Amino acid sequence: MNEQADKRVRIFDTTLRDGEQAPGCSMTLREKLRVAAALRDLRVDIIEAGFAAASPGDFDAVKAIAEGIEGPVICSLARCHPGDIERAARALEPASNRRIHVFVATSEIHRKYKLELAKEEIIRRAVDAVKLARESCDDVEFSPEDASRTEPAYLAEVVQAVIEAGARTINIPDTVGYTVPSEFAELFGYLNKHVSNIDQAVLSVHCHDDLGMAVANSLAAVSAGARQIECTINGIGERAGNCSLEEVVMALSTRAEHFGLDTGIDTRKLYPTSRLVASITGMHVPKNKAVVGENAFAHEAGIHQHGMLKNASTYEIMRPEDVGISRSNLVLGKHSGRHAFRERVEQLGFQVDDSELNRAFDEFKKLADRKKELFDSDIEAIIMNAEGVSTGPWSIDELHISAGTGKIAAGAVQLTHKETGTVKEAAVGDGPIEAAFTALERATGIDLELRNFEVRSVSVGEDAQGEVTVTVEYNGQSFRGNGISTDIVEAAARAYLEVINRVARRKTRTQDAGETDTSQKIATI
Ligand code: KIV
Ligand code: ZN
Repeated sequence: MNEQADKRVRIFDTTLRDGEQAPGCSMTLREKLRVAAALRDLRVDIIEAGFAAASPGDFDAVKAIAEGIEGPVICSLARCHPGDIERAARALEPASNRRIHVFVATSEIHRKYKLELAKEEIIRRAVDAVKLARESCDDVEFSPEDASRTEPAYLAEVVQAVIEAGARTINIPDTVGYTVPSEFAELFGYLNKHVSNIDQAVLSVHCHDDLGMAVANSLAAVSAGARQIECTINGIGERAGNCSLEEVVMALSTRAEHFGLDTGIDTRKLYPTSRLVASITGMHVPKNKAVVGENAFAHEAGIHQHGMLKNASTYEIMRPEDVGISRSNLVLGKHSGRHAFRERVEQLGFQVDDSELNRAFDEFKKLADRKKELFDSDIEAIIMNAEGVSTGPWSIDELHISAGTGKIAAGAVQLTHKETGTVKEAAVGDGPIEAAFTALERATGIDLELRNFEVRSVSVGEDAQGEVTVTVEYNGQSFRGNGISTDIVEAAARAYLEVINRVARRKTRTQDAGETDTSQKIATI
């Protein structure tokens, strides 16, 4: 490896695979495509688009990303099973740059209780799988699952064998988030020393955050020679999550003099990408989250504010604009024009086409009539929420709610269906939300089980918008929707209608083409 190449750390994003696998984080195909496009703009090196063999829906998602996203390498996960490898290869066919990522567990605990396989058999399966994957793809990655709890000598044996079989990236996962930085660095040192063909592969790291050390452990691994980091936006992932992309990238860039390493990431896209993933998954970013949290660049203490006014570097080690957070939080209002709106949307890091911009601008104007000042967070919420509502088939024309202490609440809705026209319905409920939801169910003929209801304030002030996220179940499948409004009952109704629309679209597709379902995955890892 030349000196320049050795300084470059590849960013392997697994938001759409390990991240999406986490409870409550599943995404629709459209949402996955939106996230994949944002990851391409962020300039990640590899997008792990899914696990093609896990379900027909996952296969479709990997294939759609392979077809639609140019630039990064598109990757699919596969177990060491010929069927999995064949599905991965087929889904990846349209990609200009593709990778198959095969894995098998190697630790004693997994060998004994999960796989019930001897050490030699695991090596045999790993080698056969890598060879098979190489028949359809030059770029093959191998992961010994639970590597950090595997006996180092056996791990070295596995790694040596799969490199010989053709693996070109060796990923060392801390699957259960158990290791600590010094111990993990030692393991990378051990592999570098004891695997004689290690120079034929790129070493990679994949950490989970069970003890809150995923970023620290990943950084320890790169200090010990790893040149690929597997991570997710906002650190979403199984249990406590994965290594957070934004944190690990900003650690490498802010402490460049310490690490002496580069990534290809456009850091100004970090914040918009984080907001997009938070909005799509409903996994909101804590205010104090490093790099992308709302308070990450807020200074409350007087002494800090005084220092900041004199020179921002007194209390800030990164500039907010470098991660895509605008310092101005410039206020727009009802007199702001389309041009100013577009400029603000672009400054916030969003790339929208003309029709999306027009739709968002209409929403912005409606909101500006109801709210004195519009902050960046209001504009972000408009852009994020524009999609579900606009794709229908149902839209809300009117919503009337009456409620009072000790009184039964009543709700009336008028909806329009793109093809069948207008419907009016009314219902009563224990509260205004129940009345609105029941009226929507009656009007659309779709009955849902509400599983979760969350409300949060998008910006500040008494006229701030509320964002409601609902999770519902329909026919054993989970659907999530968001709605925003200055009136939280209306926000809730919009969120509920968004899930109704998703169910309606799913029903139409299934009727038309027997389309598949992303939520029915096989038990895998
Ligand atoms: O955590 C893990 O071990 C994984 C592997 C499949 C890479 O996600
Ligand atoms: Zn993982």
